[in-house]
Amino acid sequence: MESNKRGAFIVFEGCDRVGKSTQSNQLCERLKEKGIAAKKINFPNRSTIIGDVINRFLKNTQELSHEVIHLLFSANRWECMSSIQADLLAGTTIICDRYAYSGVVYSVAKGLDLDWCWAPDLGLLKPDAVFYLKANPDQLASRGSFGNERYEKLELQRKVSDLFDHFNEKESSYWHQFDAFETEQELHSKISTIAENLLLQVADKPLEKLT
Ligand code: TMP
Ligand code: MG
Repeated sequence: MESNKRGAFIVFEGCDRVGKSTQSNQLCERLKEKGIAAKKINFPNRSTIIGDVINRFLKNTQELSHEVIHLLFSANRWECMSSIQADLLAGTTIICDRYAYSGVVYSVAKGLDLDWCWAPDLGLLKPDAVFYLKANPDQLASRGSFGNERYEKLELQRKVSDLFDHFNEKESSYWHQFDAFETEQELHSKISTIAENLLLQVADKPLEKLT
């Protein structure tokens, strides 16, 4: 018989190089091992035409104004929304590395207005949970963790980190903060426990939108 339980929409957020990719991949693999339908995605989705422009911007081969790149990041989410919704309704859990919160936080860190930045993402699907991997950017830098992409600079990451903290406080009903410097295994274990409970809690709930 066809199940009408929906999947959960789980987002990972945090500064560059805090381990979001590792943790989101591990969570997805763990769910699949347990026989749960799950799919890992990430934003920016660099595989689309818009994503290719974003990739060139991040690799510093394409210059774009703050406003234009902001709107492209948002459009990159919108172009994936119908497929995410279809997967969730078909019972597949979506594990998403970065979402609209990154969109707002990086642009506000560059000086754009917060309300202006949030507006294009209004109406996107709302995650059931955000797993926020928190790390002090100075500590990340001292470990030589940053790479060469446009935003991987200590000064900007400090602002980004403060802005993520702000979201974490404001959206505490569905944000979960983790210490990114805990061991990979400890983090994985805590995250999986919360995710597996969440799956049961949201299975019969309607999808919500960002407001
Ligand atoms: P990534 O390192 O997760 O691939 O993301 C690339 C960079 O893009 C990262 O520095 C965060 C930034 N970003 C934005 O500025 N706005 C967005 O909407 C998203 C999803 C990412
Ligand atoms: Mg990065």
